[in-house]
Amino acid sequence: MKNQRILSGIQPSGNLHIGNYLGAIKQFVELQNEYEAFYCIVDEHAITVPQDPKELHKNTLDLAMIYLAAGIDPKKSVIFVQSHVPAHTELGWILNTMTPLGELERMTQFKDKSERHAREGVYAGLFNYPTLMAADILLYHAQKVPVGEDQLQHIELTRSLAERFNNRFGNTFTIPEPLIREYSGRIMGLDDPSKKMSKSAGNSANYIALLDSPDEIRRKIKIAVTDSGKEVTFDEQEKPAVSNLMRIMSAFRDCAPKEVEMRYEGKGYAEFKDDLAELLVEKLTPLQEKYRILSENQDEVLLILAKGAMHARAVADKTLAKAKEKIGFVPINAIT
Ligand code: TYM
Repeated sequence: MKNQRILSGIQPSGNLHIGNYLGAIKQFVELQNEYEAFYCIVDEHAITVPQDPKELHKNTLDLAMIYLAAGIDPKKSVIFVQSHVPAHTELGWILNTMTPLGELERMTQFKDKSERHAREGVYAGLFNYPTLMAADILLYHAQKVPVGEDQLQHIELTRSLAERFNNRFGNTFTIPEPLIREYSGRIMGLDDPSKKMSKSAGNSANYIALLDSPDEIRRKIKIAVTDSGKEVTFDEQEKPAVSNLMRIMSAFRDCAPKEVEMRYEGKGYAEFKDDLAELLVEKLTPLQEKYRILSENQDEVLLILAKGAMHARAVADKTLAKAKEKIGFVPINAIT
């Protein structure tokens, strides 16, 4: 019996990469056997920066197919689209009324993104992004939230919002905890190990996309930056670039970076990089093949999303109704 719940979400903003896979999706697949799992495609978060409508539509279905192709099983987990469950924006609004501006101003994702999008303009949705994310989590009483390290601050805010609400109105929300993998919670860019691997990196050599072809994968690993020296040793301070590549290999092999170090003792960067490229090709090819098959049968994907939305709504609507009652809103059944 799965008696604990998890919820997580990914933005359908395209270019899903191995950082998203190792920090989030790989955990999603593993955890669905232990937990009652809800995996959301957060389209309402994606529109906090400008999106082309056709691209957003495509990226949403693509992400659903990537979830499925990676091994999220709709018989075990609920896969759904955020905008199919109106309770998210409703609870997000309520939480906005309890979130001091200063707490939102401190969010590093907001600071980064508002700098990056300064030219097109920064909108209120981007500022309020974390309260919507808190709603995503709190609606499902998720005890655990599997994410990469960059989401930690948002989960801390979610915890304090839940505590604030519970203290003011009585016990309503479960206080969630982040689940972050030790070595794969923060995968860095292949072109610059001082910055995290990112979907929005200007240079596509920054990341390996989950749908990159084998040749593209080999090319990107070949040009990935390394450090001075030639030993494959795990040392985050002295060898940040090589250590990042070692973390990628260890995460795909489900072993510790030190095991990778032992395996490459006395061998150079070239052999290590060749093996890493082949490992990535070996791991990503089956995912790409399943993705291709699913993309030929999108009706099946839409059906999974529709079922997921029904299931998610049943849970979310109940929590929302309870929260509304607690704050003094008149329930609809008091009128009819
Ligand atoms: P998003 O779409 O930016 O990223 C999806 C997931 O990938 C992780 N991630 C990484 N992990 C390791 N190394 C990296 N370089 C790397 N880059 C990204 C992210 O931490 C994330 O887990 N705000 C969230 C989406 C969201 C959400 C939620 C998450 C909305 N509502 C509720 C959890 C629960 C985001 O922007 O993820």
